[in-house]
Amino acid sequence: MALSSSPLRLGVNIDHVATVRNARGGAFPDPVRAALLAAEAGADGITAHLREDRRHITDNDIARLSAGLTIPLNLEMAATAEMLAVALRHRPHAACIVPEKREERTTEGGLDAAGQREALAPIVAALREAGVRVSLFIEPDPRQIEAAIRLGAPVVELHTGRYAELDGDARAAELRRLADAAALAAKNGIEVHAGHGLTYDNVAPVAAIPPLRELNIGHFLVGEAIFVGLDASVRRMRDAMESAR
Ligand code: PXP
Repeated sequence: MALSSSPLRLGVNIDHVATVRNARGGAFPDPVRAALLAAEAGADGITAHLREDRRHITDNDIARLSAGLTIPLNLEMAATAEMLAVALRHRPHAACIVPEKREERTTEGGLDAAGQREALAPIVAALREAGVRVSLFIEPDPRQIEAAIRLGAPVVELHTGRYAELDGDARAAELRRLADAAALAAKNGIEVHAGHGLTYDNVAPVAAIPPLRELNIGHFLVGEAIFVGLDASVRRMRDAMESAR
């Protein structure tokens, strides 16, 4: 059932193409080739996370993506001086500030925008001044939305990791938290994105949340590409998102 007529963009995260490449070193498979293919398949943007330990995407990947993409690049980055310098060098269309712990396997939990306002404020300001659209990757929690408002972030990305891990009533409750947080952010003029752990099977209820404007999806699409190819996995995800709106 179509619930909203607003378009919902798909950002394809290509980090795990680089994970496979880095398992052997060398240049294959190339995340930039994956990005170009995802764009042809209908991705609206490409997302890449340059982690402090460079476990997947490298500085050279960011340089090549910045030079070669025809669709917007969303750089996921920790709130550090090093990553701010990278962002200011390449000036991607967007930067999503994420929490980062060396020992985690993936981004576990959202940014504590409420607890780290002082540290985040100069980074958000510097990115905005450089014309980079800033988003904060946060839990669907009203305290975090309020902190994003006070920080002047134009975008928040709601962490769907808990939603993706839960079942039954607990999943329904988390979906309500996502919808409430999206409504609160949108009411305050903040553009709302979401992502983490989304698959063909769990994407529809999230995609149906009316204020959402963008989903960022990576691990599942790259994994599915092993079986059906990246073109097919991106197209099928787009269809699943569109039929939920
Ligand atoms: N959004 C953000 C901010 C992320 O950190 C990630 C994971 O890198 C994603 C979206 C995509 O999550 P997944 O790879 O589970 O689809």
